[in-house]
Amino acid sequence: MARFVTVAKANSVQPGQVLKVEIDNFPVAVANVGGTFHAFDDTCTHEDCSLADGDLEQHKIICPCHFAEFDVRNGAVLTPPATVPLKVYPVRVQGSDLQVEF
Ligand code: FES
Repeated sequence: MARFVTVAKANSVQPGQVLKVEIDNFPVAVANVGGTFHAFDDTCTHEDCSLADGDLEQHKIICPCHFAEFDVRNGAVLTPPATVPLKVYPVRVQGSDLQVEF
């Protein structure tokens, strides 16, 4: 059953940054876009690279391997070679904790 899991302190992910965390040994990335957090699968749907190692430009995460681009708000593919969207997860801030529903 999905529940909110504390993954980090909210202030550890500043605007423009992406943090890779693990929930139940599963890699999830949390991006801060202008103060709003977005969580999504860290693993690129193309060939398994870590998206947290890529660049975040506004709401767009760019895979460091072959430069596929995804919208962190909904996981949509913006630029190939990836064709499969990313799974996204609800995020909330509780006190100073950043929590992802997983
Ligand atoms: S692994 Fe991400 S674009 Fe190829």
